[in-house]
Amino acid sequence: SSMKALSLSPSLSPPVILTQDELKKVAAFKAVEFVESGMVLGLGTGSTAKHAVDRIGELLRQGKLNNIIGIPTSKKTQEQAISLGIPLSDLDSHPTIDLAIDGADEVDPYLNLVKGRGGSLLREKMVEGACKKFVCIVDESKLVKYLGGSGLALPIEVVPFCWKFTAGKLENLLRDSGCVARLRNDGKGEPFVTDNGNYIVDLYLKKEIGDLQVAGDAILRIAGVVEHGMFLDMATTVIVAGDLGITINNK
Ligand code: 5RP
Repeated sequence: SSMKALSLSPSLSPPVILTQDELKKVAAFKAVEFVESGMVLGLGTGSTAKHAVDRIGELLRQGKLNNIIGIPTSKKTQEQAISLGIPLSDLDSHPTIDLAIDGADEVDPYLNLVKGRGGSLLREKMVEGACKKFVCIVDESKLVKYLGGSGLALPIEVVPFCWKFTAGKLENLLRDSGCVARLRNDGKGEPFVTDNGNYIVDLYLKKEIGDLQVAGDAILRIAGVVEHGMFLDMATTVIVAGDLGITINNK
């Protein structure tokens, strides 16, 4: 394949050291340059995607973009888009989306992603799976050698019914990677509940997963699993903002 590994050669150099949030904004604004009037747009979720949605709203308000239809990937993004006056629809009415812009928790050298730390992985996967183009936007802290390599969780959306049983199945499936499964909580001692009324089981891995596609398929075959947070071969472009500038990586 013509998949290109991430290169660190900068295409432009910001004059100052930017904060992580400013880097997220730089990546987001760059991605919005790909948006054209008349497009159906997948609107991502998280602190990086939020900048892109803000920018789309701004361009609509200024009349620099017209006839945009947004397909939000979470209730939170839906609320943000409504507050910005972005016209919205859904996958039922628009099963084909021109372009989605969304963040990620991890990006590997083949542009595979981990998503779902924000808990929106199911809607994100449905929307981004329906896109002709999926532009992923990250600051350089998200780059990893392999998925799971940041030490952060691989999120799995599961049905609440007997989630411990499902978590045990997941640990057993990925035991060669030293998998430990934890139910995500909402910070107030209750389980975190997704927009779809499900729970998130976070998987922590000590070792690299061998074949991601095989592991992903096996995870989906466990009854009780709704979706996993590996986005394999889905991003068509990854925009990375770092101290040395912006890098645009096309698959
Ligand atoms: C939500 C996601 C987010 O895109 C991911 O968590 C990145 O978030 P942030 O831009 O806030 O770092 O997958 O489910």
